[in-house]
Amino acid sequence: MKKILVLGSSGATGKLVVAQLLEQNVNVVAILRSTSSLPEEISSHTKLHLVRADITDLQEQDLANYLQDCTGVISCLGHNLTLKGMFGEPRLLVTDTIKKICRAVERIDSDQKIKVILMNTTGNCNHDIPEKPPLSQRVVISILRWLLPPHADNEKAANFLRLNIGQNHKQIEWAAVRPDALTDDDSVSEYNLCISPAQNAIFNAAATSRINVANFMSRLVCEDFLWNQWKGKMPVIYNRA
Ligand SMILES: NC(=O)c1ccc[n+]([C@@H]2O[C@H](COP(=O)([O-])OP(=O)(O)OC[C@H]3O[C@@H](n4cnc5c(N)ncnc54)[C@H](OP(=O)(O)O)[C@@H]3O)[C@@H](O)[C@H]2O)c1
Repeated sequence: MKKILVLGSSGATGKLVVAQLLEQNVNVVAILRSTSSLPEEISSHTKLHLVRADITDLQEQDLANYLQDCTGVISCLGHNLTLKGMFGEPRLLVTDTIKKICRAVERIDSDQKIKVILMNTTGNCNHDIPEKPPLSQRVVISILRWLLPPHADNEKAANFLRLNIGQNHKQIEWAAVRPDALTDDDSVSEYNLCISPAQNAIFNAAATSRINVANFMSRLVCEDFLWNQWKGKMPVIYNRA
C-alpha cells in the first residue's frame, strides 16, 4: 500500500496533489500549519492523516516517525507572496526542509527507497546536463538570485538534491519537477515533459497548469516506469498547446 507525505499541502498546487493521490487510493500524510486549511472533502478523507505542525519547527525524529512506511515525499512548498514570505525568515524554507526530510529519511531503518519530489521552476537550470539558457534569461535570473530570496531558495534546494543526494544514495531517489508559468485550470489536460526548458523562462514563458503539475507528481510516485524515466532528473512540464 502506497503512503506519501505531502508538504505545502495547503498551497494552490499542494491541495491538488493531495486530492489526486487520494483519488488513486494512496494514503497521504499532510503536514500543515495550524493557520492553514484543506477543503472539507479532502480533510475528512479516511486515507488522509493530517498533521498540524509547522515543518520548520518539527523535530527530525518526529518527521522520521511520520515518514515511517512512506514510499515518497512531495514538496509543493513555496514562499507566500507577502513581504514577510518573500523577505522574512525562513529565507531557505524549501532548501532547509528538503535537507531535513533527507536527514529524517536517513534515520529510518529500512531498505525501501523513498522518492523525494521537489516542485521547482524553469527559472532554475539543471547543471548536471549542463543547460545554457538564453543570455537575456541568464541576466535576469542572476539579478533575481540576489534580489529575491525565494528564487535562490528554489535553486539551492534542487542543487542539494543533485549534489548531496546524487544518483547513488542508499535510501533516497529524487526528481525536481520544473513547471513554467503556473496557471489554474479545472481539469487535467495533455502535457509535454522535457529534459530541459524549450523556451525562455522569463521572456517567453509557456503555461503549465497546477493541476497538470499535480497529476505528473502524483503519477511519479505511483508509476514505476515513469519514475525510472525521470529519477535523478529535473523534468520540465508544459501544457500541450
Ligand atoms: N508562480 C509561478 O508561476 C511558479 C512557476 C514555477 C514554479 N513555482 C514554484 O512552485 C512552488 C509552489 O507554488 P504554489 O503556487 O502552488 O505555492 P503556494 O500556493 O504559494 O503554496 C505554498 C505552500 O507553502 C507553505 N508555506 C509557505 N511558507 C511557509 C512556512 N514559512 N512554513 C511552512 N509552510 C509554508 C504554504 O502554507 P500556508 O498555507 O501555511 O501558508 C503553502 O502550503 C513554489 O516553490 C514556487 O516557487 C511557481
